[in-house]
Amino acid sequence: MFNPRLTETLTDFPFARLNSLIAPIAPPAHLSLINMSVGEPQGAMPAFARQIVNDEVDGWNRYPPNQGLPDLNLAICEWLTRRYRLPQGLLDPDRHVHPTAGSKEGVYIISTVATPQQKGGGKPIVALPNPFYQAYLGGAVLSGGEPLLVNAEASNGFLPDYESLDEATWQRLSVVYLCSPANPQGAIAGKDYIRKLLQLCRKHDTVLAVDECYAEIYTGDAPPGALEVALEIDETGGKDPFRNLAVFHSLSKRSNAAGLRSGFVAGDPKLVAMVLRWRSYGGPQIPFAVQKASAALWRDEAHPIETRAWYRKNFKVAEQILHNRFDYYTPGGGFFLWLDVGDGEAATRKLWGEAHVKVLPGAYACRDTDGVNIAQRYIRVALVHDEKTTREGLSRLAAVL
Ligand SMILES: Cc1ncc(COP(=O)(O)O)c(C=O)c1O
Repeated sequence: MFNPRLTETLTDFPFARLNSLIAPIAPPAHLSLINMSVGEPQGAMPAFARQIVNDEVDGWNRYPPNQGLPDLNLAICEWLTRRYRLPQGLLDPDRHVHPTAGSKEGVYIISTVATPQQKGGGKPIVALPNPFYQAYLGGAVLSGGEPLLVNAEASNGFLPDYESLDEATWQRLSVVYLCSPANPQGAIAGKDYIRKLLQLCRKHDTVLAVDECYAEIYTGDAPPGALEVALEIDETGGKDPFRNLAVFHSLSKRSNAAGLRSGFVAGDPKLVAMVLRWRSYGGPQIPFAVQKASAALWRDEAHPIETRAWYRKNFKVAEQILHNRFDYYTPGGGFFLWLDVGDGEAATRKLWGEAHVKVLPGAYACRDTDGVNIAQRYIRVALVHDEKTTREGLSRLAAVL
């Protein structure tokens, strides 16, 4: 009765596993819960955006346009142009971008959009980093492709070494996922890395899907984006600079707006058109209020500065408390700590049972390769709370582990 891809492969959703792991353990009642397991920003969405949603009294009885309000598409193009220093007017709001219900929807859809029945003489392969954001695996498996997990470890700067895949594998690759800044390790792919990967993808008619949803959360320099890299190596005189490339962005992290469910896909117009087609048949339109608030958020550059300051304070606290423990490093981007605690599951249980702090075992965001889970030693700690709560959570963590 059921699709075996769903029942056999997509069984281990990390948060369900986490809840089962800690269910038998009673947390200490005298300590309040500090949930550092989920990447949900606890700051407030900017008031002007809340006002726009509240003011939207008309429109709830009408279907919003699937292709996005022209003003939202324009605001997205303007933001991409500013953020990645693209030439004015290069991006066409009708062709280069398409709003999605968060970046999750986009990264999931792209595999189905870009995976044919056969490729390179066999079943198509969808490559993803390991550990990974779960929607990549969902997309890979349900597209009918064969998922290929490529380990991203400390030894390779926490970025997957796709270059090392053999030629026969490359010929069968339909989609390659890259997450930069990476969840969970916070690694940033440099321009060289992206350039080589995009060139390899083009050579093999593979789609490069770059999840840039943490692009605005960084501790040092702003992470480069795949669109700007594509433009730097453009050989088409601006006619088709983004071929084989799709990037995904979101307001969830940039604007503390996870509940708004607003993101977009941008890049190769052929891919963008197919995402639109996919969504015309199976995706929900995005409410008018959300689209209008999103346009205002993409246009505002003040609040992301505050967002970054919030996380920088938290990383300062983390450095103070953890600098000489668990192979601590401050990541280039994102808001997670990726801590080597020796045994991630045991540490998670201990933190729950003794400190009422909830974290995610690294292994739950990672699948076994050659019988080994390379994230088994790690926990992922989301620094999404305010500075005071973060200090309390990390102090308890340091005391207990
Ligand atoms: C790497 C990564 N990609 C995509 C998403 C999806 O976020 P959203 O759909 O809220 O944009 C998340 C959410 O945590 C994430 O960590």
